[in-house]
Amino acid sequence: MNRLSDFMLPPARSTLAGEVDALFNFINVVSLILLIGITIAIIYFAIRYRRKSDDDTTPLITHNSKLEITWSVIPLILVMIVFGWGYSGYLTMTNAPDDAYEIRVIAKSWLWEFHYQDGQTSINELHVPENRPVKLIMSSDDVLHSFYVPDFRVKMDVIPNRYTSVWFEATGPGESVIYCAEYCGSAHSQMLADVIVHTQDDFDLWLEAGDAIDEDLTPVELGRQLVERQGCLACHSTDGSTLQGPTFLDIMGRERLLTDGTTVTIDENYLRQSILEPNTQVADGFPPIMPSYAGSLSDRQIDAIIEYLKTLD
Ligand code: CUA
Repeated sequence: MNRLSDFMLPPARSTLAGEVDALFNFINVVSLILLIGITIAIIYFAIRYRRKSDDDTTPLITHNSKLEITWSVIPLILVMIVFGWGYSGYLTMTNAPDDAYEIRVIAKSWLWEFHYQDGQTSINELHVPENRPVKLIMSSDDVLHSFYVPDFRVKMDVIPNRYTSVWFEATGPGESVIYCAEYCGSAHSQMLADVIVHTQDDFDLWLEAGDAIDEDLTPVELGRQLVERQGCLACHSTDGSTLQGPTFLDIMGRERLLTDGTTVTIDENYLRQSILEPNTQVADGFPPIMPSYAGSLSDRQIDAIIEYLKTLD
């Protein structure tokens, strides 16, 4: 029976997945049996009781209590099984264990931001330890989003002005994709992130060091990596095409008309300002929708992004 969920669902990588898949399989197998049974009955009756001649008449049959009770009670039992099973799974999935490691999740159009208990933050990469319950406390800075990790079988709406939460326990190191499952605007389909499951030791190391991988990189290389990982490319192209925001191509030194009618020459200060307080100087013709990166990028990272943008010409 597991073959069915293996075929229809991605590999199960959380402790909750087994129960979800079992119910999923049960519903599918029951539906398949009913589909086959009902189809065979329809075909059999259509042949057996077809009108054989012009004066063939149908006998008057009012009802058959036994038959009607049978076809009511069996489906009732089936849906009650699905209800009971589903409800118990729902209770498990909505009540995180007390010892769960808590992470704050903030959804913005169109990126995911994660804040850890010791002050570490990350964008579009959720780092978690394996074999330990992790509880996410989520909210949105703008519109409705939905946090969805198919590998973990968890999905929950992320809403402005209110917290929602979801928990999971990853069963081993590896990476899984996070999708946004609520249509949230033009870059909805690019609102992707990764869950990176570490061993507990690696997770502790990551919490201490953060993305210290950048130590060996030149500023331009680091900047390119940040632009790719921090969700910038969902809205800004590097090839001159216009997405939700202006292109990064040949951006330095360019004259830009702003929505307030003034013109600026794009320099390091304009870029820095646009990263930290994006909606104070918005390019004309674009909506003021960029989320602020204040608090989530260090000065060194902002410098690196600016150095990288200078190379795009
Ligand atoms: Cu966020 Cu779709």
